[in-house]
Amino acid sequence: MPSRTGTLTTPASALDAARRGEIIADLNASLAHLIDLHVSAKQAHWNVHGPNFAGLHALFDTIAEEGRQYADLVAERVLALRGTAHGTISDVAGSKEIAAFPTDEQAWEKLTSLMHERLMTTSERMRKSASNMDDELATQDIYVEIIRGLDKWAWMLEAHLSDGTNSNGSRSSR
Ligand SMILES: [Fe+2]
Repeated sequence: MPSRTGTLTTPASALDAARRGEIIADLNASLAHLIDLHVSAKQAHWNVHGPNFAGLHALFDTIAEEGRQYADLVAERVLALRGTAHGTISDVAGSKEIAAFPTDEQAWEKLTSLMHERLMTTSERMRKSASNMDDELATQDIYVEIIRGLDKWAWMLEAHLSDGTNSNGSRSSR
């Protein structure tokens, strides 16, 4: 059977086994971050207290749901590359890259900052992965899509944390 080696797509069968293994390991590391993001966002959704309760309660739930969908996308790419998805709670807990999320935190500022930090850490990780995937464009595309989502949520959380002062120092009109 002829293999397709055009520039648009690189089929899994065209990657050598070692490189495919590297990509699968990278996807599984990202999967752990996304499952953590889903679970942490639910934790924030349930526990958040403060004057911005309604908006943050809903936003954390959106992050949790979309994080779950991104985890699914990444896990299924692992299978498309003929690997095994490592998405158990033990896999996530065993990741040395992921810091523990506090159990008893309820303050909205703290939960918002913690979730923002997690989004940025995951986005940064995926940015590095994406820039190293020129030989695996379908995986690169998945990473780029997820980075867009993570950066959007980070911006939305920043808007909650903002005191209304623009980056140029002037206060925005309402
Ligand atoms: Fe809920």
